[in-house]
Amino acid sequence: MKEMLKLDLSRSLVETQDLNAFKEESETLKKKLWSEEEDFTGWVRLPFSYDKNELKRILDTAEKIRKQCEVFVVIGIGGSYIGARAAISALAAGAGPVPEIYYAGQNLSGTYHKELLEEINGKEFCLCVVSKSGTTTESSVAFSILKDELYKRYGREEAAKRIYAITDAKKGVLREEADIEGYESFVVPDDIGGRYSVLTAVGLLPIAVAGIDIEELLLGARRAAERIFSPERKGGNTPNAEQMDDASLLAAARVSLLNRGVPVEVYEYYEPRLQYFAEWLKQLFGESEGKNRNGIFPAALQFSTDLHSMGQFLQDGNRIFFETVLNVLDPPEDMIVPESAGKLLAGRSMNSINQAAVQGVIAAHESEGIPIIKLEILSLTPYCFGQMIYFFETTCALSGYLMGVNPFDQPGVESYKSEMRKVLQGK
Ligand code: PA5
Repeated sequence: MKEMLKLDLSRSLVETQDLNAFKEESETLKKKLWSEEEDFTGWVRLPFSYDKNELKRILDTAEKIRKQCEVFVVIGIGGSYIGARAAISALAAGAGPVPEIYYAGQNLSGTYHKELLEEINGKEFCLCVVSKSGTTTESSVAFSILKDELYKRYGREEAAKRIYAITDAKKGVLREEADIEGYESFVVPDDIGGRYSVLTAVGLLPIAVAGIDIEELLLGARRAAERIFSPERKGGNTPNAEQMDDASLLAAARVSLLNRGVPVEVYEYYEPRLQYFAEWLKQLFGESEGKNRNGIFPAALQFSTDLHSMGQFLQDGNRIFFETVLNVLDPPEDMIVPESAGKLLAGRSMNSINQAAVQGVIAAHESEGIPIIKLEILSLTPYCFGQMIYFFETTCALSGYLMGVNPFDQPGVESYKSEMRKVLQGK
């Protein structure tokens, strides 16, 4: 079986003994995760236990949506949106026509939503509203605007056939409305939090509508889980403690660097298709680790563009960061540079020049003593992307635990929501 990810810690400036210091604790934490006894750890065994009937319903619904509309608007914020966008941006759509996909509710901008309505004007459209709580202000506002538009265009009864809801099984106003109005609906499992939910209907329905093979995505995640929780075993039993797996190694390296006083991680990517994957990483790590005045601040830079701005800071500025390079070895497309580009570049493939940039940047930053972690990503396929999702989810859970925080809650996010409500109520 092809391994799609390769972790390289050789330039991380973390010594083997520092990594080994976390070995025992990581194994204990993996057992804790695998037991799924902790709250919000339902994602750990998900790739092994996925409900086949639910998967079929997602695939059938996606097929129906593809025939029903030219535009599919996904409404949600944070974990209820960014995973789907990350996958849809990174992976080429599958065979056959797929609707244009738009996103709403991830900001409160009247300009953005007005322009969105103008953009979809005259096109057949459907909505997918995703909110575990069903009460998030941003999603609620966007849903009411777009639902209003559906009512105007199609009437309430037809509109209900164009609304797909993904929310809690029992609680919340969205669940109530979905049941009363008869929307086709899916459940965000109780034991899976927003930022770990991309492999549930939250991510899978929009990703499937985009024509991406979600079964391959789940297979990739399963392969990553097998490698992390037991290199030898296919599901079941307890994790193998023989050797540290890559997620434990990466978690150990990150925490070692933090303990050494390096509080910022910069994710660097050279394929623009990874822009939203980097956003997903920022959410996953930022919301999971940033607690009790602790955590690594996640940042993301797109190269080459940011080399011509932030590259200066990286090379020469305040040493508060380490770098995690996401290097795609075999991108989906390539081009040969024409003769007119001159002797040095003519006839080369763009991807080979991009790889020269990867190597050049690493050499320049290594010479300055910056800790560099590299993750080689073989290709951008659903199978590989499934591995990436699961690998980073587990790394994040382990890192959070090793830092002594709960990687599955987000009390800080709740604070802003209640303060905003007070402002709206004029208090
Ligand atoms: O990871 C999380 O839990 C959050 O980012 C939520 O997904 C986000 O706040 C949206 O919440 P909800 O799905 O309840 O609308």
